[in-house]
Amino acid sequence: MHAVNSTSQLSKPAAYRELQGQLSALLAGERDALANCANTCALLYEAVPGLNWAGFYFLRGHELVLGPFQGKVACVRIAPGKGVCGTAAERRETLIVPDVDAFPGHIACDAASRSEIVVPLIQDGRLLGVLDLDSSQLNRFDQDDSQGLNGMVAILLQSCDLRRFVASSG
Ligand code: SME
Repeated sequence: MHAVNSTSQLSKPAAYRELQGQLSALLAGERDALANCANTCALLYEAVPGLNWAGFYFLRGHELVLGPFQGKVACVRIAPGKGVCGTAAERRETLIVPDVDAFPGHIACDAASRSEIVVPLIQDGRLLGVLDLDSSQLNRFDQDDSQGLNGMVAILLQSCDLRRFVASSG
């Protein structure tokens, strides 16, 4: 497995394309949303260098609630518009935070986190949650990560009915 970083022989976009191929193969033939989210964040945590946390929050009513993740234990509930996750969810757009200490309202789950990227999960126009990646490096994430991770999320959302899963649990 090629690491998705600048020291890899592959460019970052090419490394993400390879990782997307691995995710498609990993999820092929499996429609269970919880299992597919769990394997997606495990693959990301293993393959994307510099991460100290990778996981999901799902929209339960009006709150984001912790889902499958890799990393240290994390805060369970995030109100709309709060933190990086709540802000990305409210805006329905990918949010890159190069320095979490400079982001007003950042919610510090792991004190080691220095930068963060949050990708909203939107299926059939409905916001279902977010994918959140944290790094202990400042300025770890850029537009290549945003594009690559949005591609990963698209593969995940094609693999299962996350809408039904989010509606049926919580
Ligand atoms: N930092 C996030 C909270 C979630 S943890 O990083 C896992 C935020 O500000 O929303």
